Amino acid sequence: MALTLLPLYQQRVEQKMTALLQSRINTDAELLQAMQYSLLSGGKRVRPFLVYSCGQMLGALLDDLDAPAMALECLHTYSLIHDDLPAMDNDDLRRGRPTCHKAFNEATAILAGDALQAIAFEVLAAHPYQQVDFSERLQLVQQLAMHSGYNGMCGGQAIDLAHTNKPMTVEALEAMHQLKTGALIESAVQMAWLCSPKRDEAELAALVKYARALGLAFQVQDDILDIEGDTATLGKPQGSDLQANKATYPALLGLDVAKAKAQQLFAQAKDALSVLPYDTQQLSAFAHYVIARSF
Ligand code: IPE
Ligand code: IPE
Ligand code: MG
Ligand code: MG
Ligand code: MG
Repeated sequence: MALTLLPLYQQRVEQKMTALLQSRINTDAELLQAMQYSLLSGGKRVRPFLVYSCGQMLGALLDDLDAPAMALECLHTYSLIHDDLPAMDNDDLRRGRPTCHKAFNEATAILAGDALQAIAFEVLAAHPYQQVDFSERLQLVQQLAMHSGYNGMCGGQAIDLAHTNKPMTVEALEAMHQLKTGALIESAVQMAWLCSPKRDEAELAALVKYARALGLAFQVQDDILDIEGDTATLGKPQGSDLQANKATYPALLGLDVAKAKAQQLFAQAKDALSVLPYDTQQLSAFAHYVIARSF
């Protein structure tokens, strides 16, 4: 099954985010340019894809789903800008272009990340929703805050940095991956569910199970691509993890075990979908895409 909806949703979220940044009143032109440079630079938009495809499957409105889709991509882009900074991974290339701090400067990159993070929560709170009431809006904000902060992405990034050049058990590595990458992917399905009219807890549990397998698989494949990919295709420097001596799945267990793990997680993700009373073909195709992708 082809992932037919990915280009459609990519296009949709690009348009919405372009308009979002264009609507800003002018404070500092360079800061806005840096935000646009990093946000509108051809990411895969996989988190918005998950929001839209899960949400549509559950009966949410596309117009409502625009809010979590944009918010998540803004939040994710902020995490990438900061991840590339000299104090973190110190990388020069992102999405096929110089990283934000290389194209602008470090202070502007830090502020562009900060401003994209803030805009994410502004969009979640202020979007002109049709089917999402005030209490659900608050829950959307809470979901994204939880998954992006200390108990989510930031916590995972801190563990990543603390274990660079240090040994790590597989259990600790998986917990780190689950936080630094899995948490935002999980928040995509949580927020899609919150925007939907039915909100069945058992369905949410199945989707969370799917997202957890997918989130881990996503980072395992990212780690594999650091070894097997090439810089031109990846749009970011191949070998960055090796050079920095990062704790990764292939570094700990070897490439073959890492690839087997990705396959196993793909099977787990598909299995989680089997209990859902919907057409889950796009979500299943997406799980395959995550472990088969070359960038
Ligand atoms: C890269 O994320 C960082 C990880 C969490 C592994 P993506 O692979 O989704 O990057 P873009 O958004 O497509 O550039
Ligand atoms: C990053 O993991 C996860 C984030 C929260 C940004 P990586 O450091 O492996 O991501 P890349 O490889 O630089 O995209
Ligand atoms: Mg990193
Ligand atoms: Mg990095
Ligand atoms: Mg990586």
